[in-house]
Amino acid sequence: MKKLFRHFLNLHEISKEDINIILKYSHKLKKKSKTKQFKEKKILAIIFEKPSTRTKISFDVGMKLLNGDVVTLDHSDSQLGRGESLEDTMRVLASYVDIIVYRGSDESKLYKLSEISTVPIINGLTDISHPCQIIADIMTLQEKFRSLNNLNLTWIGDGNNVCNSWIHASKHFDFNLKISCPPGNFPAKKNLKSLNLQNVELFKNPIEAALNADVIITDTWVSMGMKSNPKRQKMFEKFQINKELLKKTGRDTYFLHCLPAHRGREVTDEVIDGNRSLVWEEAENRLYAHQSILLWCLKQI
Ligand code: CP
Ligand code: NVA
Repeated sequence: MKKLFRHFLNLHEISKEDINIILKYSHKLKKKSKTKQFKEKKILAIIFEKPSTRTKISFDVGMKLLNGDVVTLDHSDSQLGRGESLEDTMRVLASYVDIIVYRGSDESKLYKLSEISTVPIINGLTDISHPCQIIADIMTLQEKFRSLNNLNLTWIGDGNNVCNSWIHASKHFDFNLKISCPPGNFPAKKNLKSLNLQNVELFKNPIEAALNADVIITDTWVSMGMKSNPKRQKMFEKFQINKELLKKTGRDTYFLHCLPAHRGREVTDEVIDGNRSLVWEEAENRLYAHQSILLWCLKQI
């Protein structure tokens, strides 16, 4: 029997056609040329094992704007905090709600949940990936550039979950993705297995990676769940996005950051607040991207 819904887990597993459907609808929602609403009320459960501002609130607001409603489950005030398994919790929740967005550490747990769930599961971030973010980021770039074809995107910093999802997206788009990270912090090959990464290049030197960049992207040096230490901070100093680095690109380079930013660490104030920074549009676009993902998962677009 054909499923009446789709999970949104990782970008390389979703077809290019479907990603384009999600993106196209995100733009329409932003332009208010479409104001789709669920005919019958739908309920979203937000289950987050890690903190969030943007993802949580934009899914909440987005769902309500679609004539949906939202319940949020936190570790501290549910039986999860007393040791009830996530699998058991999900089985029960799936009989109450229509769709679930989950944020946790362990990517394999996300996949296990998607196997047992009778409602769509959206990946709201794991240690390995952050696909919702990249839909909003691509939407933001589509607003600035006519096409992403041949665009030079440069990731400088930690080869983390957000970086992995950019790599996943590179399977579907003809941008060039250059990645520069301190030794030992490049994206792990095992997370990227089975990808044919012809348009991804790795660089030890951030200045070389930045040459000809149309867009420079970074993120925190210390993701949620990691421990910071002075040695790590020192190792990353050369990978800061500052005015001097932007001068070396040879182009008018835009800047993206998923936020939250650590000003003075991975990015300076003058870059994040500068006129080439797209971070606020990027954050705003999460709202439209998430509404579109909800509609796609529930097969309404
Ligand atoms: N960029 C992002 O996912 O932000 P939050 O952690 O605030 O959701
Ligand atoms: N890499 C960051 C992204 C936050 C949205 C983290 O996982 O903490």
